[in-house]
Amino acid sequence: MAMAGLAVQIYNAGGFCRVVSTKPMPGTQWIRALTNVGCRVEVCIENKTILSVEDIISLIGSRCDGVIGQLTEDWGETLFATLKKAGGHAYSNMAVGYNNVDVEAATRHGIAVGNTPGVLTETTAELAAALTLSAARRVVEADDFMRAGKYEGWLPSLFVGNLLKGQTLGIIGAGRIGTAYARMMIEGFKMNVIYYDLFQSTRLENFVTAYGEFLKTQGEAPVYWQRATSPEEVLKEADVISLHPILDKTTYHLINKERLSLMKKDAVLVNASRGPVIDETALVEHLKANPMFRAGLDVFEDEPFMKPGLAELPNVVVVPHIASASKWTREGMATLAALNVAGKVKGYPVWSNPNNIAPFLDEHSQPPAACPSIVNAKALGLTVSDGSAQQKL
Ligand SMILES: NC(=O)c1ccc[n+]([C@@H]2O[C@H](COP(=O)([O-])OP(=O)(O)OC[C@H]3O[C@@H](n4cnc5c(N)ncnc54)[C@H](O)[C@@H]3O)[C@@H](O)[C@H]2O)c1
Repeated sequence: MAMAGLAVQIYNAGGFCRVVSTKPMPGTQWIRALTNVGCRVEVCIENKTILSVEDIISLIGSRCDGVIGQLTEDWGETLFATLKKAGGHAYSNMAVGYNNVDVEAATRHGIAVGNTPGVLTETTAELAAALTLSAARRVVEADDFMRAGKYEGWLPSLFVGNLLKGQTLGIIGAGRIGTAYARMMIEGFKMNVIYYDLFQSTRLENFVTAYGEFLKTQGEAPVYWQRATSPEEVLKEADVISLHPILDKTTYHLINKERLSLMKKDAVLVNASRGPVIDETALVEHLKANPMFRAGLDVFEDEPFMKPGLAELPNVVVVPHIASASKWTREGMATLAALNVAGKVKGYPVWSNPNNIAPFLDEHSQPPAACPSIVNAKALGLTVSDGSAQQKL
């Protein structure tokens, strides 16, 4: 069916309230999450990768209770004012990051903003690990070489890369994903870790200490952690640096020309956070000037584009923003986004621990009567629940 010029698919046409999803999302659990509580669901199936603000205004129409949107969309004053006028009070990003959302504007219009934490953590960390290994061991370059029929036999210096075992891992942004990635690299490759975050990560520190003790009991060298007081300290010390902060004013171009120059000439830099955390033009120049320096990138400053010159460089591995692309995670993200909107439509409280969202993902039981994660819950004065008791934020 074509609605306001854009093709939509409708579920539960007679539902008492109207929820729009700007994209088809994986799985069907998310659709049931909405139809089970009486929503009519309209999914935009227009063959257009990124919807404009005008497209979304037409999807919202004159009556809309809530929207599920994507990180490629510009959710600012215009869209929240439009949603409010249409009677809406809930929006959820199908993403944990929400730098595409003007949360203050949403709050001004009384609209709850949901995100989907927890369910992306391991999947995103695994892709960061994949990029690290690919860059350090030159996997993509070697694959290209092989397919081009250039392999004539084993040679002592063919595609020599970096050993990770016992090297120093640098983490900038040791939140959920940064910590999960650090654990993988520490357990897998016995790396020592130096991290920089605005907050202490006792979870990471305690893990490294305990794992170091365990290694000693096995007669192996322990691993160590260090909390840096500046990003510079991490960049100077580490052999592999992976970026996992949120994107905001404090992390925009966190990696710039000056900071790149502090890094070891054969360091590996990985970014699976957001593109603008790196000044990509400066990175292109740095990669050109330092052929032993390698990078693994999932995200780009001007997506879907790469800065001129990046694609031609052999010492960078590039993938199209697929860090959260495992079936389990993408279906889980869709379910959490739908439950954020469904919960708000039903007037449910907000779940007290967005880091423990497992109860919302079990297909075989009813999800808790709560919104899994609303980022402006406090600003809106919403009630919070741990499944048993409720309290006002
Ligand atoms: N590439 C992808 O597909 C993908 C998938 C998931 C998440 N992400 C990105 O990863 C980010 C992190 O996700 P998360 O779930 O780990 O979030 P999180 O909130 O658990 O962790 C973010 C960490 O960054 C830290 N931080 C904030 N400002 C900082 C600064 N100036 N310097 C250093 N650290 C700073 C925070 O203190 C926090 O510990 C998301 O915001 C999102 O943008 C990308």
